[in-house]
Amino acid sequence: MNEVKSLGAKELNKEIELNVNGEKHSLSVAPNKTLLSVLRSQLGLTGTKYGCGAGECGACTVLVDGKPIPSCLTLAVAVKGKRITTIEGLSQNGNLHPIQEEFVKSMAIQCGYCTPGFVLITKALLDQNPNPTDEEIKQYIKGNICRCTGYVKIVEAINAAAKRLRKTREVKI
Ligand code: FES
Ligand code: FES
Repeated sequence: MNEVKSLGAKELNKEIELNVNGEKHSLSVAPNKTLLSVLRSQLGLTGTKYGCGAGECGACTVLVDGKPIPSCLTLAVAVKGKRITTIEGLSQNGNLHPIQEEFVKSMAIQCGYCTPGFVLITKALLDQNPNPTDEEIKQYIKGNICRCTGYVKIVEAINAAAKRLRKTREVKI
């Protein structure tokens, strides 16, 4: 008689390598695990937040090959080999990224739950459009929800960060 072997959850896991913030991680991941879950529970990168779990709030935004994606709707196995950036990857040598600093200076943070997502979407915006208009900013961040600030300070922070980063680019040139 044939023995039917039932597979345990661990046996169904896939071995993948994720490149997160420039570091490679070899992981055993269930095929149905979201990137958000793997970042938070397996890699301890809790800066990426769980909000709605349905692609509606932007709290879980990370960059994949420079593009913002909702990590709550992205399977970890789907981004193996891609360049993933989380909020933890933005600071350099213990210094906040200029975008983070401008969010602090502009008082665009209250409870802070939405902030990692806003900072990363700002990074994606300014990488592709260094001098956006207010309308372009509002359009780009419309998938990110903030329950506290009313968005005015966030737009101010993005404008301030854009100005500062443009100056940095001029100096480098
Ligand atoms: Fe992913 Fe809300 S938690 S979009
Ligand atoms: Fe609280 Fe945005 S600062 S949700």
